[in-house]
Amino acid sequence: MLQSTKDSSRPTVEFQPFAPGFDEDPYPNFEPLRSLRIAYWEQGRAWLVNTHDDILAVFRDKRFTSDPRAWELAGAIEALRSPELDAINHNSLFAMTDQAHARARKLVSPSFMPRSIERTRPMIQGIVDSALDAASGKETLNLVHDFAERIPVRVISAMLHIPEEHDELFHRFSVAALRQMFPGLLKAEDIPQLLADIREGYTMLSDVIEDRRKNPIDGDILTSLIQAEEQGDTLTKPELISLVATLIVGGSDTTVHLIGFTSYNLLRRPELVKQINDDPGLLKGVLEEVLRFDNSGKVGLPRYATEDVEFAGVKIKKGEMLMLMLQLGMRDGSAFPNPDQFDPRRDTTGLIAFGNGPHYCLGANLARLEGVIAIGSLFRRFPQMTLLEPPTFAPHPAIRKMDTLKVRMRPLET
Ligand code: HEM
Repeated sequence: MLQSTKDSSRPTVEFQPFAPGFDEDPYPNFEPLRSLRIAYWEQGRAWLVNTHDDILAVFRDKRFTSDPRAWELAGAIEALRSPELDAINHNSLFAMTDQAHARARKLVSPSFMPRSIERTRPMIQGIVDSALDAASGKETLNLVHDFAERIPVRVISAMLHIPEEHDELFHRFSVAALRQMFPGLLKAEDIPQLLADIREGYTMLSDVIEDRRKNPIDGDILTSLIQAEEQGDTLTKPELISLVATLIVGGSDTTVHLIGFTSYNLLRRPELVKQINDDPGLLKGVLEEVLRFDNSGKVGLPRYATEDVEFAGVKIKKGEMLMLMLQLGMRDGSAFPNPDQFDPRRDTTGLIAFGNGPHYCLGANLARLEGVIAIGSLFRRFPQMTLLEPPTFAPHPAIRKMDTLKVRMRPLET
């Protein structure tokens, strides 16, 4: 509900992303935001940017940065400090800007171009097949834990030749690294465990890198990054660790959720499953449409004003946070006609689920390929799968964290 304030340049909005039922269906809660280009959300200490055009404008405007050190509350939560966290937050691709960012990104981008990603197809198929092999024979399954969570960390780790025994730790590490990006929304009691997961993951990454330094692998991404670091002027050790951490963090929960939410949307539309099995090319459109229509974002993507800025009719002060509400931008009728209709055949040119501008998702091609292989294989192998109960969600500051998606693998015998 929009509240009138004395200062008309600071319209505020009541937004309840932690209200019961929000994760199951956030769109009724988003409704008051949809009529506002921008409004200040007191609880989140952030400006919410809600329209497609304005979100694109912020992505491309150099007065807004993704570097969390520019935030007015940076470091204010004393309990949320540790040397490992500082190293990640200062050196990750997400936070880097300008030339430092371009330099680091140039080192890894060749490995994520479409042709390189296409070469990972057999490896991804193998990971998906072994997850499905483990599932076959079971009567019921939680598709989140038993399927979706087994794929993305393993895929990115396999690309980096990191052994499987580290998957569980890297999964915890990436969940913690994502949560800490929203410090104002964290619960104080969750912080010690979060810092412990970060420390453990960071140490393990450092060990993996030292081991690879001694045992280089031909054609390996990590080996070539280490060699770049050894040339001295390209990457420092903390930059190297953080870069690898960014790949693991960027490629984990996001893609788990793409697989989980797409499964859910298909289970609710059995006729679409039949259409995909007849025309597998349609699956690409389904994945794009799930990212647009049922995005797992709860709040938005953070940006910080590097100076006082007048934007969309309001005055944003230096250091204030903006949250780019991608999920609303993708339900904006000016960018997507009939935005509240699920249509896997629509033109998704304006999709911003992978961001835009210099920080555009490095792993978009990989995520799409993982999605196509995982979902295509799942529904080909178990076309009779049915939803047992609505999904449940775990508490999370920033995403609708699907926790269970229970399915019956065979129809009930009568
Ligand atoms: C459906 C899955 C995915 C979604 C929705 C997604 C979304 C995003 C978004 C919105 C950004 C922009 C962040 C910003 O502007 O602040 C981003 C950046 C990034 N993503 Fe993804 N991502 C996904 C999968 C992946 C995968 C599989 C990888 C694996 C490498 C990955 C790696 C990255 C990296 C490294 C960045 C930072 C790029 C930079 O700052 O230059 N992402 N992603």
